Amino acid sequence: MDRIAITGGAQLNGVIPVSGAKNSAIKLMAASLLTDEPLRLTNMPRLADTRFLGKLLTRLGVSVTESDGPDGQQTILHAPEITSGFAPYDLVRQMRASFNVLGPLVARSGQAKVSLPGGCTIGARPVDLHLQALEALGAKIDLHEGYVYAQAPRGLKGAEISFPIVSVGATEHAMLAAVLADGVTVIKNAACEPELVDLQECLNAMGAKVEGAGTPTVTITGVARLNGATHSVIPDRIEMGTYAVAAAMAGGEVRLTKARPELIESLSVKLEEAGATVVRTEDGVIVKRNGSRLNAVDLETAPFPGFATDLQAQFMALMTTANGESRIRETIFENRFMHAPELMRLGADISVHGGEARVRGVAQLEGAEVMATDLRASVSLVIAGLVARGETVVSRIYHLDRGFERLEEKLGACGAQVRRIKGDGEPEL
Ligand code: EPZ
Repeated sequence: MDRIAITGGAQLNGVIPVSGAKNSAIKLMAASLLTDEPLRLTNMPRLADTRFLGKLLTRLGVSVTESDGPDGQQTILHAPEITSGFAPYDLVRQMRASFNVLGPLVARSGQAKVSLPGGCTIGARPVDLHLQALEALGAKIDLHEGYVYAQAPRGLKGAEISFPIVSVGATEHAMLAAVLADGVTVIKNAACEPELVDLQECLNAMGAKVEGAGTPTVTITGVARLNGATHSVIPDRIEMGTYAVAAAMAGGEVRLTKARPELIESLSVKLEEAGATVVRTEDGVIVKRNGSRLNAVDLETAPFPGFATDLQAQFMALMTTANGESRIRETIFENRFMHAPELMRLGADISVHGGEARVRGVAQLEGAEVMATDLRASVSLVIAGLVARGETVVSRIYHLDRGFERLEEKLGACGAQVRRIKGDGEPEL
């Protein structure tokens, strides 16, 4: 398997264009199941996760065509009919969000059999709220041998869905199912992440009637059918935030473009508190640090517009060389500190107690061999490697390839010494 080697010490100077958001793209792709007309998604990232979902959608009857269109990378998805309502375990386990095909399948063809996604390195991540939402919409749900059997032969019915906790995936899933339901659905305690607003815009371009995404109450008036549409995927705020942290870590000046500054405001505030300069621009941010050491700052992850859990590992890497002690509280996932022991292999001083990590900044990290455990954890190791003395080699980077498009190229263009070491095809132990 491939690895990434980083030689620390180079500052970052240059421009990084931000790609389309992985976590939006994969839900938008699932929306193609709701119509017999083509859905053209532009600003599409090319990632392992979009490929996984493309493979599953193809099995369900969707033709998935990737190309370079007039406005950049595009994917055209077309499902004239659903040829199968079966999403097998071997495809769903590769990417949890594949589970979100369940709602659109039931909405369009009245039945589906979709594998439960199973465990995950960052926490238990159950799907009870997804199932609760589909049941509220009138689907009959049965669980057998690791599969969800869902049926609504006479179609889904609008309903009130009140989530006990905020869930991005369950809110998206409820929206994807309710657009074709008969009547009005009101989702209460909905997630407010920008990707939900993106989903609303895409569904409305397809002829749906969705209002309120981005607020805790989303109202959907069901329609009988949806049409094809063209939609541009929202910029990836986590990729943007990751490179903003990388610039603050390595020093120099990096301009992030093709994005929106408000998508990472909670991170920008923390970067400024730590001593980096963040200039908000029309299409992104410029992040600068002039060589002086950053100060330790505390943070707590929270649903949007709070500090994103998907940027916690990267910020922890930043704090490993800051001046003082930083307390980092993870409140979204219970097991999301797997990067801490790997950062410690690079010389970081971190202790974890339950949902809180204490990071005492050290003057210098040392390059070492480390292992990626999940997508955001792996990029935190790359960020630490940017300032570690000598070489850092990150293995299991298939995690990175799931969510960061052309990472080596983007960082390399700003002067980072990052190279991919091609593997021999053998799995790593
Ligand atoms: C999405 O996951 C993202 N994934 C995650 O990004 C992100 O970390 C997360 O939202 C939070 O922002 C995608 O969009 C594909 P949740 P999701 O449902 O939807 C609990 C990355 O690195 N919960 O908002 O799965 C759950 O266990 C990934 O790109 C239930 O209890 O997150 C968690 O503690 C990692 N029952 C909390 O809710 C349910 O039915 C929030 O999870 C669903 C969720």
